[in-house]
Amino acid sequence: MAFELVDIAQEYDKLVQVLRKHKPDAIVHFAEQRAAPYSMKSPTTKRYTVDNNINATHNLLCALVESDVNAHVVHLGTMGVYGYGWTGTAPIPEGYLEVKIDTPAGEVRREILHPANAGSVYHMTKTLDQLMFAFYAKNDELRITDLHQGIVWGTQTPQTVRDEKLINRFDYDGDYGTVLNRFLMEAAIGYPLTVYGKGGQTRAFIHIRDTVRCIELAIQNPPAKGEKPVIFNQVTETHRVKDLAELVARIAKAKIDYLPNPRVEAEQNELVVENRNFISLGLEPTTLIQGLLEEVQSIAKKYVTRIDQSMIPPHSTWRTQKPPSNPIKSLKRQSKKTLQRPAKKSAGTKSKVSI
Ligand SMILES: NC(=O)c1ccc[n+]([C@@H]2O[C@H](COP(=O)([O-])OP(=O)(O)OC[C@H]3O[C@@H](n4cnc5c(N)ncnc54)[C@H](O)[C@@H]3O)[C@@H](O)[C@H]2O)c1
Repeated sequence: MAFELVDIAQEYDKLVQVLRKHKPDAIVHFAEQRAAPYSMKSPTTKRYTVDNNINATHNLLCALVESDVNAHVVHLGTMGVYGYGWTGTAPIPEGYLEVKIDTPAGEVRREILHPANAGSVYHMTKTLDQLMFAFYAKNDELRITDLHQGIVWGTQTPQTVRDEKLINRFDYDGDYGTVLNRFLMEAAIGYPLTVYGKGGQTRAFIHIRDTVRCIELAIQNPPAKGEKPVIFNQVTETHRVKDLAELVARIAKAKIDYLPNPRVEAEQNELVVENRNFISLGLEPTTLIQGLLEEVQSIAKKYVTRIDQSMIPPHSTWRTQKPPSNPIKSLKRQSKKTLQRPAKKSAGTKSKVSI
């Protein structure tokens, strides 16, 4: 096994050399800025996310064509490309939607990429990746599988349990921590679980063990040359955030804190997802009920001493916040003005200020 360090968004020529040298049969493309909250932090992080993610994916596709390496690309995309909250209870298909178009010559049926509905700059880059995949599969006959992955939770895989040195990173902070891992860590230290808004958001989840199994299954089942990109929904369960918080709170005897939502998103949504492809290939999902207790006890509690509590509250907001006005001061200002300048309104007109 070899290791090569390449910034694939910046070092295009090196990437071409690495491909020519190793001639891989398959490439698992993880290499993107992967946090939605980080992507929404500032103009700098928005621009970095676009520069890095779009260039990384395009450089890889372009380098495969230039190097004439016939590798199957397996990309880690996201369920967030479909958006949350406008499909209602309509099941979200695996990437493609069949549509009927009325034409003067009668009804025409087409299979199109499911409409994209990004909820952050990070998700927007993943929707743009899809268009690049469609183009390179059509134009250069690259073989591509795009995995629309749900939110990953859990820490250990059958490989990492073999030695503590192999353990995965466990992000619990507001930018990089995924929701369920955050709840688990918060519960372990007695910090109230941080639910955004009323917690009516429904999201798709997958345990990290199943993530790696899905990647293995995707590699073993490549599309043919000339085929459009294969898209799999890499999810095993959907849950409402509030229900998840209540479940973790019950297991770990934790409290729940409903915070003002820092994101711009539907307060409540349905999410019905098709995931037949992986199940038919043999995936046996790890369910939340099976895995949660183990994660709380064996991981979250074991590493509590490493937690920096100041990293837990969310620090990224989807819209620039104006400094909050002081309602008491502005009331005083307004009543002073009213005293100095008698209102021109007729007696009986109600004041706009009420206490
Ligand atoms: N964790 C999740 O819940 C989740 C959900 C859906 C999709 N994904 C996607 O899965 C992939 C892996 O995410 P992860 O959570 O394991 O995060 P991760 O940070 O462990 O993996 C991303 C890796 O990409 C590398 N990278 C970024 N830009 C690069 C560049 N220009 N050149 C070379 N390497 C670069 C980073 O250094 C990092 O090692 C990402 O593409 C992410 O968007 C993750």
